[in-house]
Amino acid sequence: MTREYRAVIVGAGRKAGPIDDERGPGDRAWLKPWGHASAYQAVPGCRVVAAADPLEDKLHRFCDRYDIPGRYSDYRRMIEREQPDLVSVTTWAGLHAEVAIFAAEHGARGIYVEKALCGSLAEADAIRAACQRHRVAFNYGAGRRYRPGYCKMRDMGASGELGEVRGVIINCGMGGLMHGQSHMVDTAMHLLGDPEPEFAQGYIHTETGPDGEHTDGYYDAAANRWCGRSVSGGDPRLAAAYIRFTDGTDATIWANGGRWYQFTLVGTTGLAHAADNNSSYEARRIAEAGIFRSEPLPFPAFEDESDTVIAIRELVAAIAADTPEATSGNIERTHRGTEILFALAQSHLEDGRRIGFPVENRTMYIPSR
Ligand SMILES: NC(=O)c1ccc[n+]([C@@H]2O[C@H](COP(=O)([O-])OP(=O)(O)OC[C@H]3O[C@@H](n4cnc5c(N)ncnc54)[C@H](O)[C@@H]3O)[C@@H](O)[C@H]2O)c1
Repeated sequence: MTREYRAVIVGAGRKAGPIDDERGPGDRAWLKPWGHASAYQAVPGCRVVAAADPLEDKLHRFCDRYDIPGRYSDYRRMIEREQPDLVSVTTWAGLHAEVAIFAAEHGARGIYVEKALCGSLAEADAIRAACQRHRVAFNYGAGRRYRPGYCKMRDMGASGELGEVRGVIINCGMGGLMHGQSHMVDTAMHLLGDPEPEFAQGYIHTETGPDGEHTDGYYDAAANRWCGRSVSGGDPRLAAAYIRFTDGTDATIWANGGRWYQFTLVGTTGLAHAADNNSSYEARRIAEAGIFRSEPLPFPAFEDESDTVIAIRELVAAIAADTPEATSGNIERTHRGTEILFALAQSHLEDGRRIGFPVENRTMYIPSR
């Protein structure tokens, strides 16, 4: 008989489940089940046994909808009482560290944390240490890395089909550094095979109004914290990023406000391209050396699937095999991507200087939702 994996969800909001309602028919960007509760229902052997949220009405609506028996206002009490195998952390980023660390220290075998990972590098260090100390499998909410189309792009690069891989170009919306660009940095790393970063340079929008008032995110040096009026409370909007990796590849993220979400993996003889925010994939190669003419390169066939389902399935497999590091979005990679995000913020503060790794300022706080 296959083992049952008991899951709990901390934070009964959109990404916990109801975000599925936001995807219309024919929308291929994010595939359903996209929310955590609905995705657990799609993974054989998994059962969501409880959820926690301090908003009582919301919690009951959520649990009624997904048929979840255990209901708690305090996630600590839930984890202690339910002793789950899997913990999904779908609160805002400011709470991710305390919940993930508590779960790791209280018996969870797998943790699935939404992006952004947390609010500071000190928090990221503590999450990584807790997961490693307790041998907890980890996956991250930056979903493109699980999507089969992006895995095919990465494989084309790794196999030499595109020639020598030179880098990734991303053309995307102007999301907050932590909230939105956590996705972009993670996808760039994934397409390149998760190399070590060498340095990062960033430029951030820090607009002011006619009287010099901040109309955008801004850095408060005394508090070592980004602040602002945005809904996220100061998550600054990235304009552009350049990330150089130690293997000589690089990633350019151009966050221009056009919501194109195009991702191109560039090699010397070919390129692979994801368009329309994960909806379609194609590749091209040089047709004839010496002249500027290219032709389609067959893109490998694949069956697309929800990233949330794949992330959960990977966690279950890692627990079953007792190989906690064997997930795609493991804590080492997620920590590395988070370190890049903080390097981009630091670079902006130093007029675009190249920021190497590890980043020195580990207590700078960047809030996000
Ligand atoms: N991967 C993706 O593409 C994607 C998409 C949407 C949201 N997200 C991420 O999911 C997370 C949640 O976003 P959302 O849009 O679902 O937000 P939301 O506001 O809809 O849900 C957050 C929930 O957490 C609850 N909460 C607050 N404090 C809590 C506590 N102490 N214990 C338990 N629950 C608590 C809130 O009451 C709320 O119900 C964020 O990190 C966000 O970035 C990821």
